[in-house]
Amino acid sequence: MVDYSIVLIGFMGTGKSTVAKVLSKQLNLELIDTDKSIEKKTGLTISEIFEKYGEKGFRDIETDIIKDLKDKKEKIISCGGGVCLRDENIKNLKTNHRVILLEASARVILERIKDDDTRPILKDKTDIESVEMIMKRRKASYQKCADLIIDTDEKSVEKIVDEIIEKL
Ligand code: S3P
Repeated sequence: MVDYSIVLIGFMGTGKSTVAKVLSKQLNLELIDTDKSIEKKTGLTISEIFEKYGEKGFRDIETDIIKDLKDKKEKIISCGGGVCLRDENIKNLKTNHRVILLEASARVILERIKDDDTRPILKDKTDIESVEMIMKRRKASYQKCADLIIDTDEKSVEKIVDEIIEKL
């Protein structure tokens, strides 16, 4: 029994959802994916929310979801890539949970997400320079939120999960 949840954060395409699924199975803990919770709550896809309410509207819903997860224990929580852009979310995640930052290079990220058009932030940004620019802008926020940082480049999901469990 642990009195916290394990939270995965990181840029789009760093493997949060995939790693969270395996972690949840391996540790036998319930999985919560915040983007899925947002879609369930609104009945809209992430792209539709961005279209209808803009990024701010999306972030407001995300902030409410994170607030609801503040005191949840023994869960694996996979967050959307921009969750750390609000200090309120960082505080709510860090206070009671272990926050793990997954990192990857822009090259690997682009390779992983090249056939996926469900991310409004990366719409029309399919070159390394654009991705690196957003990563650079977000770097300090990610680091501020993280208790543990795991590099995922060239690693299998199993290896990443083993590393997380070992370092928890
Ligand atoms: C976002 C990342 C997405 C999703 C939304 C915004 C971001 O989640 O929350 O499109 O700002 O980085 P993933 O990181 O799971 O792609």
